[in-house]
Amino acid sequence: MNDCRRLLVTIGHPELVAAIASEIASFGPIPFVRFMELALYHPRFGYYVREPEDGAERIGWNGDYYTSSDVHPILGRALARQAEQVDRLLGEPDPFMVVEAGPGKGLLASQFLAACSSQFRSLYDRLCYVFIERSPAMRERQRHHVTPWLNEPDKLTWINSVDELPPESITGLLFSNELLDAFPVHRLRVRNGHIQEIYVDYQQGEFVECLHPLSTDALAAHLQRLNPDWPDGYQTEVNLEALNWIKQVARRMHRGVVLTIDYGHTARDLYGPERRNGTFLCYARHSINETPFVRVGLQDMTAHVDFSSVAAAGEAAGLHVTGFTNQLSFLMGLGVERMIAELEPESPAFRAALHLLKPNGMGGVFKVLIQHKGIARAELDGLTYKPFWESALTGSETSVRTL
Ligand SMILES: C[S@@+](CC[C@H](N)C(=O)[O-])C[C@H]1O[C@@H](n2cnc3c(N)ncnc32)[C@H](O)[C@@H]1O
Repeated sequence: MNDCRRLLVTIGHPELVAAIASEIASFGPIPFVRFMELALYHPRFGYYVREPEDGAERIGWNGDYYTSSDVHPILGRALARQAEQVDRLLGEPDPFMVVEAGPGKGLLASQFLAACSSQFRSLYDRLCYVFIERSPAMRERQRHHVTPWLNEPDKLTWINSVDELPPESITGLLFSNELLDAFPVHRLRVRNGHIQEIYVDYQQGEFVECLHPLSTDALAAHLQRLNPDWPDGYQTEVNLEALNWIKQVARRMHRGVVLTIDYGHTARDLYGPERRNGTFLCYARHSINETPFVRVGLQDMTAHVDFSSVAAAGEAAGLHVTGFTNQLSFLMGLGVERMIAELEPESPAFRAALHLLKPNGMGGVFKVLIQHKGIARAELDGLTYKPFWESALTGSETSVRTL
């Protein structure tokens, strides 16, 4: 076997593998959700916590995967435009808070700030931009990308967790792009008519999966609400952290809008018969695999978001659904046609901007959930076009049992 082949099958970052193996040795097999938490966010060796050993980036063309802001700045510009409308709805408060959660390397923030400072000066002058980022390494990357704005006192601040914001302290906009799909998930498989949970064991130098009963009452209660009728062999994921997250956000919001962009679906689509293998994926060097037990700590892991459950958890905590759309419709509503018309036709920038709109690509797979609190439900420009029925996220559609 040559060196290249050995690299492809490496089990992962040695200290991280040892830390996970040691936890399994002490406590027995761990639920997959715990394995994913350690692989991505172990406080010393996790994928997002460590600086990459080769000096490359996690996110971007030199990294493992790219996000919308690597393709073209139009999403950041559209978000700035949407923020300006929310600012007017709130009566132009001072300060207007923009809270970005899980900002990655900070490129979207820099694009948002550039658009805001050049086009929406009144908003920019009252803007207080808060980054919520749990990884110190990612915080450093963010600082690098927003250097031009660092010399303005109190304009930008960083916190580690949404818990650090006092209750009802946000007047403004809280947004995230590809945060919820980076939360650790429970993985489930149906065997002999019972929904079982995937656990991770460590045997003879390798991680292996095994099935056990559900690890928590919260997971069992969530499945009861979903009320699925999955056949034997059906495999899927449940992201309880996303539901806790949106409840935490609801408590911190005083008056304003929460905007969540991510890979995802309604519960009915995510847990329907056509997704019988789930949506869990790993990303390494721009290739996709379904094998979390190699390159542990050296590749990203994600699963698509159940937006119905996020909407329902938000409603229960006082965050009301304003609307649900996809990235293509969101950008069209915010005037992306005009932005693209300013680009040289067929130029690389023109083609890149169109890439974000492709109905079978980034324009369609990314969904946008908008919720509000402390204000009346508003007609937001980003929700002008909605490819889903109004009830798609809520009411009886929350149950995934087929009619
Ligand atoms: C997939 S990246 C986000 C990409 C970025 N938003 C963009 O548009 O390019 C996920 C980011 O969320 C951070 N993260 C994960 N869980 C978090 C949490 N609970 N609170 C804050 N940040 C978190 C990760 O460290 C990482 O920076």
